[in-house]
Amino acid sequence: MRSYSWRGLLATSLGLFAAGTNAQTGAISDLGSLLAGQKNLTTFYALIQKYPEILLQLPSYQGVTVLAPNNDAFNKIPYSSLNDAFKNNDKDTITNVLEYHILQGTRLAKSLVPGTPTFIPTLLTSPEWSNVTGGQRVENVKQAGDVVVFVSGQGSRSTLTQADLAFTGGVVQVIDSLLIPPSNLKTTTTAFNLTSFQGALYAANRLPLDSTTQNATFFAPWNEAFQALGPAISSMTSDQIAQVMDYHLVPQVIYSTNLTNGTQYLTAQGENLTVRHSGNNVFINSAQLLQADILIANGVIHVIDNVLNPQSPSAQPNPTIASQAPVFASASSVNNLPFTSDIPCTTSCPVTSHTGTSSVGAKTQTSTSVSTSKSKGLGAAVARETGYHAAGLMVALGGAVMLL
Ligand SMILES: *[C@@H]1O[C@H](CO)[C@@H](O)[C@H](O)[C@H]1NC(C)=O
Ligand SMILES: *[C@@H]1O[C@H](CO)[C@@H](O)[C@H](O)[C@H]1NC(C)=O
Ligand SMILES: *[C@@H]1O[C@H](CO)[C@@H](O)[C@H](O)[C@H]1NC(C)=O
Ligand SMILES: *[C@@H]1O[C@H](CO)[C@@H](O)[C@H](O)[C@H]1NC(C)=O
Ligand SMILES: *[C@@H]1O[C@H](CO)[C@@H](O)[C@H](O)[C@H]1NC(C)=O
Ligand SMILES: *[C@@H]1O[C@H](CO)[C@@H](O)[C@H](O)[C@H]1NC(C)=O
Ligand SMILES: *[C@@H]1O[C@H](CO)[C@@H](O)[C@H](O)[C@H]1NC(C)=O
Repeated sequence: MRSYSWRGLLATSLGLFAAGTNAQTGAISDLGSLLAGQKNLTTFYALIQKYPEILLQLPSYQGVTVLAPNNDAFNKIPYSSLNDAFKNNDKDTITNVLEYHILQGTRLAKSLVPGTPTFIPTLLTSPEWSNVTGGQRVENVKQAGDVVVFVSGQGSRSTLTQADLAFTGGVVQVIDSLLIPPSNLKTTTTAFNLTSFQGALYAANRLPLDSTTQNATFFAPWNEAFQALGPAISSMTSDQIAQVMDYHLVPQVIYSTNLTNGTQYLTAQGENLTVRHSGNNVFINSAQLLQADILIANGVIHVIDNVLNPQSPSAQPNPTIASQAPVFASASSVNNLPFTSDIPCTTSCPVTSHTGTSSVGAKTQTSTSVSTSKSKGLGAAVARETGYHAAGLMVALGGAVMLL
């Protein structure tokens, strides 16, 4: 359902590009006038003028919040890189990236509660970009010192620099770096070094399928958790591994704010997981939550410190010890990373002479390896050198579509 009044309102706002502001009268500007009057938003304004499709696609809402990256945000990348990336991709890509910068509803910075994150739906709804029902989310949190941060894909953080600029259809919040549309499960687990988890999903034949399931929450054990089990998990049959991995997937999107003490969630495997709080620590069964709310294209990842066992759904943590014991009886720790060899080769692969036997298969394989090797190259290489934040920005501007 689309609202023609909204289309009209915003198209008119930008179509007229009335340079005059309402400074004298004090009345609220339309969006076009507001952006035109902001010296720090000239790049964003130019982008919006170049791709007005974004505003023509606005559905009906009570109001919207435009997260407008300031000129510094664009300047973090040489303009030529941005230009090339946008030139190589189609209008559709830029429209989707911009849609991720528009939040549903009028969200005032001053109404945020310090410390409590919110997960705000955006206008990014195309299944090519998001399989989160109701629109991909941006995490918004007010930190100590009233610093307001928007967290997007790959853990990228954008800080609010100018708050609550009202226009006739909502509010503009100025941010210091671009939001990154969340990448898929494979790309994100690679970027966050969840190597064995990713490999185990392949060993269980759950990747690539798990990356396109709608509305998913993954509890992803870090590498150390798989190393602590060793052959107790790596020598299982594929079906047994699938049982274990399905126990790490809840088929609905559960952000950290819903991981409340005593809550149970039904997994894809069929057994429940239980959330427990002890002091400031959160546990999933007996596994401690290490990092919450890593947004992905089809939901969210929470990193935990132990592999969950569907045979032991009532496992409880011992909060007095720092590191919980494995819940697999025959655990025997190893130095190597289990399941790495199950990850399909995407870079520097041996050339096979066996090509063209199945056009469908070949096509699928080609497109998979192209997209993953690009994103891996960008994400992993830059992450090693400069950290995730820089990697995220590069990815957003240089390979947003490639990541998916
Ligand atoms: C514009 O950006 C500069 C530097 O980033 C900053 O010092 C200034 O306060 C900004 N202007 C407004 C109106 O916020
Ligand atoms: C969403 O799911 C569909 C199939 O259900 C898939 O084709 C598409 O690639 C998925 N989107 C993303 C961003 O992973
Ligand atoms: C995704 O979650 C929404 C609730 O947010 C639900 O209405 C919808 O049916 C779910 N879709 C699937 C495929 O599970
Ligand atoms: C990834 O995890 C492995 C195993 O825990 C560790 O040895 C390695 O240093 C990690 N790499 C990065 C980049 O954090
Ligand atoms: C998450 O918590 C909110 C607020 O308590 C509640 O309305 C919502 O139903 C919860 N969602 C899930 C999936 O549990
Ligand atoms: C899972 O938990 C829910 C809510 O606590 C409960 O109703 C349900 O019976 C449980 N299912 C299983 C398989 O334990
Ligand atoms: C969580 O719930 C349990 C059982 O009701 C309770 O004993 C424990 O104190 C709660 N934890 C916190 C941090 O409130």
